[in-house]
Amino acid sequence: MSPASSRAARPLRLAGVSRPRPGAPAAPRRFAVLGAGGFIGSHLVPALLARFPDATVDAVDVNLDKLEVRAARLERIHARLDTPGLVDDLTRRADVVVSLTALCNPALYNTRPLEVIDANYTELIPLVKACTARRRWLVHLSTCEVYGRTAVSGHGRVRPTERMSEDGTALCLGPVHKERWSYAAAKQLLERVIWAEGQHAGLPFTLVRPFNVIGPRMDFVPGIDGEGIPRVLASFMHALMTGGDLLLVDGGAQRRSFVYVDEFVDALVRIVERPRACQGQILNLGNPRNDLTIRALARALAEVYRSRRPDRPAARLRRVSAREYYGAGYDDSVVRIPSIAKATRLLGWRPRLSVPEMLPAIVDDYVARYQPIIEARLEARLEAPLRDAPGAPARLGATGTGGGAA
Ligand code: UGA
Repeated sequence: MSPASSRAARPLRLAGVSRPRPGAPAAPRRFAVLGAGGFIGSHLVPALLARFPDATVDAVDVNLDKLEVRAARLERIHARLDTPGLVDDLTRRADVVVSLTALCNPALYNTRPLEVIDANYTELIPLVKACTARRRWLVHLSTCEVYGRTAVSGHGRVRPTERMSEDGTALCLGPVHKERWSYAAAKQLLERVIWAEGQHAGLPFTLVRPFNVIGPRMDFVPGIDGEGIPRVLASFMHALMTGGDLLLVDGGAQRRSFVYVDEFVDALVRIVERPRACQGQILNLGNPRNDLTIRALARALAEVYRSRRPDRPAARLRRVSAREYYGAGYDDSVVRIPSIAKATRLLGWRPRLSVPEMLPAIVDDYVARYQPIIEARLEARLEAPLRDAPGAPARLGATGTGGGAA
């Protein structure tokens, strides 16, 4: 859910209040999903509707285009989070509030840090307070970025290959002039507020730290449904579909652990099913077995794309400096591997899909969604008179920046 909206703020009244039920835990009757139109929200809402057949979902976002599901038990609410009365109404009705709203796109952290801090911290404080006041269970999606550049033990010893664990690993960000960490700092402070509300003011909460969830509908393709630099999966798909270079930031030796969105959403649903086990907990959700370099991801994606579209130009990988790509103030996580021992223990959750297993469905979705538009535009460009600069690269992206939603 992007905080930017052209809609005028207006009071929003919602009907119906779910009754407090004696004896917990009962299955939730009503969910509020904030950021329901983003990548994860658009996968989570159908899963909640399927798993909880008696529950209603209030799906809130400024743009709900990605949320293709329609159901009588789904209320689609096009609104910003700061719409007067909205948080009050949602927390009055819902048993469980899932908060996904974020500006979570690294290209923004050092270019629009004030908006990033507001979207990930300031604007969420009223929601946290309202959940505390009404004792609503807040399931908040934080981020693996809170761990910082690499795993550091609680005693301060750097162990680059150590897995990151929720209650043991120290959170070590870069210096302040490395504005990349503005996002992680905002997310960490909100985690600390939520934790304190839980310890000292009675907020039922669960904090989730996602580790590089990928899948269909992630982010945007520049020039089609967003502007700027999306996260790495969409950036590489954009390059493949337009015949541009796959750009490896500082060579692409940095590593990430990728988990498939369906498996991630399954873990979220399991959390909601287990209030006793999960309230008051911080949970890493990711797949430690899928730790690979960004260069390896580029190669794997290019291979799958080639198998789907052998007629398209062969992919080219090109090194680019972080400064050239993201601007000054960018910094990076070197290795980011979750420990999921706690998630496995509390949820019985073990993600199984390898990266080669998840890529075909992802590539097919991007190709079906975007390739016809891209090809129509390229054709129109070829047919256009020579006022278009000859030799212009086939990339469609603008140079501005655009927001992503979790
Ligand atoms: C981002 C967010 O900051 C996290 O909050 C979020 O949890 C995470 O995405 C996620 O997807 O779950 P990050 O992994 O750094 O973190 O974001 P990406 O934009 O996906 O970048 C991954 C790596 O690929 C970075 O090292 C980046 O420099 C590199 N990259 C990105 C490229 O080499 N080329 C590109 O075109 C784009």
